[in-house]
Amino acid sequence: MCGIIGYVGQRKAEPLLVEGLRRLEYRGYDSAGLATLQGACLHLRKCAGRVADLARHLRERPAPGGLGIGHTRWATHGPATDTNAHPHASTDGRVVVVHNGVIENYAMLRRGLEAGGVVFRSDTDTEVIAQLIAHHLADDLMAATHTALARLQGSYAVAVLSPCNPGMLIGASSGAPLVVGLGQGEYFLASDPGALAGITDEVVFLQERQMCALGADSWQMFDDARQHVPVNIEAISSTAIVTEKGDFEHYMLKEIYEQPLALKSALHMRLDPGTHGFAGMEGDESLLRADRLLLTACGTSYHAALLGKYLFEELARIPVEVEYASEFRYRNPPTDPRTLVVAISQSGETADTLAALRQAKLRGHPTLAVCNVTNSTLAREADGMVPLRAGPEIGVASTKAFTCQVAVLTALALQMARTRQLSERDAARIAQEIATLPDAVRDALECQDAVRRVAERYCRVDNFLYLGRQYLYPLALEGALKMKEISYIHAEGYPAAEMKHGPLALVDADTPSVFFLSRGHVYDKVMSNLEEVKARGGPVIAVACNGCDEAAARADEILYVPEVSDYLQPLVSAVPVQLLAYHIALLRDCDVDKPRNLAKSVTVE
Ligand code: G6P
Repeated sequence: MCGIIGYVGQRKAEPLLVEGLRRLEYRGYDSAGLATLQGACLHLRKCAGRVADLARHLRERPAPGGLGIGHTRWATHGPATDTNAHPHASTDGRVVVVHNGVIENYAMLRRGLEAGGVVFRSDTDTEVIAQLIAHHLADDLMAATHTALARLQGSYAVAVLSPCNPGMLIGASSGAPLVVGLGQGEYFLASDPGALAGITDEVVFLQERQMCALGADSWQMFDDARQHVPVNIEAISSTAIVTEKGDFEHYMLKEIYEQPLALKSALHMRLDPGTHGFAGMEGDESLLRADRLLLTACGTSYHAALLGKYLFEELARIPVEVEYASEFRYRNPPTDPRTLVVAISQSGETADTLAALRQAKLRGHPTLAVCNVTNSTLAREADGMVPLRAGPEIGVASTKAFTCQVAVLTALALQMARTRQLSERDAARIAQEIATLPDAVRDALECQDAVRRVAERYCRVDNFLYLGRQYLYPLALEGALKMKEISYIHAEGYPAAEMKHGPLALVDADTPSVFFLSRGHVYDKVMSNLEEVKARGGPVIAVACNGCDEAAARADEILYVPEVSDYLQPLVSAVPVQLLAYHIALLRDCDVDKPRNLAKSVTVE
């Protein structure tokens, strides 16, 4: 996790670094800091808290100079304190470092340095890097950095500066992304090209174990053997700029309301099963001829993958396995190398998902990324890439990316079904059904007032249960995750029938159960599960489509959504649960867009 920004050029570094940090804050927001050089004079400013706190601090004590590095942190080693905030300087002040990733052998390195008399100030693994570079530094910062990095195990993207080499900014990357932004007489470093959008149009991604040395009027890239390497300059689009909230109080609410439009864009030209390819897909489309799939992802994207299993197996009759990326990366399951491994990720930077993709490639699997950020590491490393086209998602709790992921998987399943057993007539009917989705989601948004009333009634409880079956089971997991993430209420999602094997023991008058109902073939079964909860005095909130009269009569609260085909229902029924988590979080005074302890992009294991 964490965000890195660096600048060297003729302009003042500080405002550029602060702006970059604001854009990177989604990667971590428990502390922030920057260091600049004005000649050989080092200015180091850092504090626990948000980038806004750092900016306030800088108004009192500016950091002058035309070269600098900045960082926004998500704590891994040591709590969020001023001391643990990056940048970290070596005790002798000769080396200053910001770092993303985790140094796995930091404790051993630290002990060695301490035995040699080095005094550490922080609890972080990063400080080891600064101390180690200083330990090796004679007069060549590049050589010392190279030697120090060779001793690290783990992952890093680092930016390094030194008052001893005041015109030089060094970047290096291994297992964590870093890009160089090319300007006119100025250069940037960033852990995410989105931080540079609108500032520069051209970037170069550092490849594994590459380093760069940036000066105000020159730059160079090196490989692990310190040999110059040819560079591949890529264009970035200014649309990656973080958008504003507009009239909405929070990004999350804005993104919930953007869903009809985002779904339209995600499905655009993807519902014509007469065509051979998949619109917008990059890479060889023969990938889609796979006859087995393994879907891998983390967090909300994992729930989209679970829905993907139901969709591909039912619509396309393709067997699918779903694995948490963090589990898959350390397993060696006996998979057929012809199985297409599909990595699903909003950001395309989630460390575990990336590692799972790399493992899959190592084992000879063809790979496909389903990704919102199209120039992300995942999108670039997979053999093929399907963009979500959901637009930037800023709120930490994923909403529109989730529904767009499921919509894209649905369209992909339809496409793959058509190249297999599905008749043209059935395909056309399904395509028509899917095309109604954006409007159905728009209508679902009308439940907002009803949701707010339910939120007021239940915002003080300690536990929630979310229950659904078939297509609505993965949504139960996602509903519970939304509630946990932003309201800090414990919530569990379960297949409704599994209740009696344990969770039913949790039911009491203070534990509401959210039941998802559609009028599909398991309606009566879910109604029985609902009765089991009612019989034990548990309040029931039903998310049901118009016409589920029995559910409306038996539930304590009813949130209506439009009725669509059962395989599309989770996309429509997602809206009330996203809004429920949102309104409860508001009523509990939680920071909706930046929930405690979390980050938007999880770039550590
Ligand atoms: C974090 C985010 C979640 C997201 C998960 C996976 O935990 O807070 O919203 O679902 O990472 O992220 P990805 O970018 O790979 O979809």
